[in-house]
Amino acid sequence: MEMNRKSQIGVIGLGTMGSAIVETLVRNEFVVTAFEPVSPKILLPSIGANQAPTLPSLVAELEPPRKILLMVTAGSGVDEIINQLTGYLEKGDIIIDGGNSHFSDTERRVSAFKRLGLGYIGAGISGGEQGALSGASIMVGGPKECFKAVREFLEAIAAADDKKIYCKYFGSGGAGHFIKMVHNGLEYGLLQAIGEAYLLLNQGLRLNHVDCASVFDDWQQGALNSYLIGITAEILKKEEESGDHLIAFIDDSADQTGTGRWMVNEAMNLGIPVPSIYEAVAARSLSGNQKERREIVKIGWEDSSNLHSTIKEIQCGLIATFWCCLAQGFALLSAGMKSYGWPKKEDEIAEVWLRGCIIRSGFLKTINQSYIKNPNLNHLFSCSDIGNYLNKELQGLRNAVSSAIRAGLPVPTMASAINYVDALKSERLWTALIQAQRDYFGAHTYRRIDREGSFHTHWAEGRG
Ligand code: 6PG
Repeated sequence: MEMNRKSQIGVIGLGTMGSAIVETLVRNEFVVTAFEPVSPKILLPSIGANQAPTLPSLVAELEPPRKILLMVTAGSGVDEIINQLTGYLEKGDIIIDGGNSHFSDTERRVSAFKRLGLGYIGAGISGGEQGALSGASIMVGGPKECFKAVREFLEAIAAADDKKIYCKYFGSGGAGHFIKMVHNGLEYGLLQAIGEAYLLLNQGLRLNHVDCASVFDDWQQGALNSYLIGITAEILKKEEESGDHLIAFIDDSADQTGTGRWMVNEAMNLGIPVPSIYEAVAARSLSGNQKERREIVKIGWEDSSNLHSTIKEIQCGLIATFWCCLAQGFALLSAGMKSYGWPKKEDEIAEVWLRGCIIRSGFLKTINQSYIKNPNLNHLFSCSDIGNYLNKELQGLRNAVSSAIRAGLPVPTMASAINYVDALKSERLWTALIQAQRDYFGAHTYRRIDREGSFHTHWAEGRG
């Protein structure tokens, strides 16, 4: 660190991610001052960054125009810090929110900062501590000129290979945080699907944890190759000193910080079906209702049959479910970009998710290529390559799901996936009847397939 030089960037928030980012920035030879707003006792290890004792002293340490990266928990905490900070900032200073803020909060903050002559960037940063240390995937939104001013810092944190840096700008306002929200919803879907496959292997086919791990290792060599399958194999191998597998002792009620739920709510707002993501979010809530579950378990439930499925079918089911989650996520991304006026960049989103982030996988390379070939692709399944990949796996998914249901093993995300595909590929849905019913009781009218216009029928002549 150059002792006389003011810092080029400030970092607020020294939790796991904030501290790792400070370390990475220092390693990249930036002069950094950090500040921890909530737990002042948290001290940076001696990695060559300054630690300011107060917010004003942090601001005083920075070279104008100041650049400050916020790594604090999303929500009111971000507004509190911003409110305190703005009193010390000057025109041209820029704040980067690197947390998981809701994109609508980011939109609001970008506008408020603009009115004050300040800059605000919303940057979704994925990859956890490991990503922050060795290269994250970064999805940026906000005023483009502000991105240009802070780009070097974000790129220093981002994953990189010979050709690319996995930090991209996606548009104004909350674009970056919108994409991060969808990333996280997909994370919920893929994690849930993997959990279901594990349940079928372990409780259905009665494979022990060593054997389950070797199945995941095996899957990691094929179409399912991804960060999440890789860590699953590692987790299942982990033993305690006693030699028991750690997984057997982990409480099964799953936590959530809310980004998956945000994605589902937003999908509902924009009218985009994301049933597999919904099931994943619901499964976490269901798992958390432990008291209820304990009471229900006590009832003498009828016995279920064995699982009549194979490892291969479960693998096909998982591949197909991954495709369904991703298709739902990309449908929401397309709708979001259209609705909020952001440029269409599905190909670049798939690309920025190829390295560093939690959902990185080979699937995203195929998606990236599909959007490059056809930027106006309406739905991933209308791309013939993807449709054909999916088609090969459908029978396996169908068999895995139906045998799981007969065996009494819950597979909500996999089941939603087969229903999603079956509905999308149906030439005629049950919804003609719904249209007629709506017209019957509410005179809402219906369209016909043989004539233009909207129609209303007096369905029950003479009834009161
Ligand atoms: C990432 C992750 C991360 C997220 C955690 C926890 O991209 O690095 O998405 O941002 O906060 O995975 O999310 P939940 O607590 O909601 O499971």
